[in-house]
Amino acid sequence: MWRSYSALADRMSSSPLSSRYRTAFVTGASTGLGRAFTNMLLAAGVEVWGTARDRVRVPDCAGFHGVILELGDGEAAEEVFLKVEKEAGGFDVVINNAGFGAFGDYAHTDFSVWEEQYRVMLVNTARLSQVALRGMLARDRGALVNVSSIAAEFGMPYQAVYNSIKAGLSALNVSLMYEVKGTGVRIIDFRPGDYRTDFEGSVRRPIQAAALLPATTARMARVWAAFAEMMQTGPAPAGAAADLYAALLKGRSGTVRTGRFFQSVLAPFLARFGSLALQRRIQEKYFGL
Ligand SMILES: NC(=O)c1ccc[n+]([C@@H]2O[C@H](COP(=O)([O-])OP(=O)(O)OC[C@H]3O[C@@H](n4cnc5c(N)ncnc54)[C@H](OP(=O)(O)O)[C@@H]3O)[C@@H](O)[C@H]2O)c1
Repeated sequence: MWRSYSALADRMSSSPLSSRYRTAFVTGASTGLGRAFTNMLLAAGVEVWGTARDRVRVPDCAGFHGVILELGDGEAAEEVFLKVEKEAGGFDVVINNAGFGAFGDYAHTDFSVWEEQYRVMLVNTARLSQVALRGMLARDRGALVNVSSIAAEFGMPYQAVYNSIKAGLSALNVSLMYEVKGTGVRIIDFRPGDYRTDFEGSVRRPIQAAALLPATTARMARVWAAFAEMMQTGPAPAGAAADLYAALLKGRSGTVRTGRFFQSVLAPFLARFGSLALQRRIQEKYFGL
């Protein structure tokens, strides 16, 4: 595992990544993990088509093609994807990375907030996965990477929909691994722990539709403080890019956990031996519930 771009670049200069993968498509390439994946692929000599919603946020660098894409509209997103896929002559790597957090009491948050999150991060991400997979299967090559989260296994309080989206996305990834077996296509179920990106700053904290009890408000404040601390002290996104690089190079389908040792190795290992009730109690204690 490499934790810096210089170490990564050294490793990449002698890497065969670009001989295996020529083109890549990355959603949410403007910042955070998507930007780190993009930098990693470009450094390895892969041509990248990367998306942002606003032209001013599109990176400008050699080998990079900016694409404007809003995942809230599935039909339009599919159209954009097909257009650039044709332009690229097919994508060898597709990374469905774009997403955002929403923090709120499930019962009292307007359902439109949850609905939008499902639409962007699950429904339309699954839609892009389908269209990407068709192209890859037709060419019998490629790697589809869907960025899930450690939250698929260890859900965070007051992010109920985020947790269910990531669990759903991971289930989709694992299901697709069965379907592509025996073909030249690979599926990577990528599950980061907390990385220091713009994610925390852009988490939506909607006004609750009904007044919350003071006890709930206080509990939410404690959970938010623990969550924000985890995000702010997380490793730099280059670490996730390095782990993705290694997974792509292996050329196998599988689940990749990445991040702090505790989140990516120890907690999943210990969870195998404890009960789900114990796991929940530990989470409750950590978040001050
Ligand atoms: N950071 C972590 O600790 C962590 C941990 C586990 C999983 N993840 C997952 O990793 C992915 C990237 O997160 P990040 O931490 O890199 O967050 P980030 O720094 O906030 O970046 C989010 C990216 O998603 C794009 N995006 C947001 N809403 C979109 C929409 N409606 N349509 C199209 N693009 C949209 C943004 O593009 P614009 O430029 O258009 O805003 C931006 O490029 C997410 O799926 C997140 O759930 C992150």
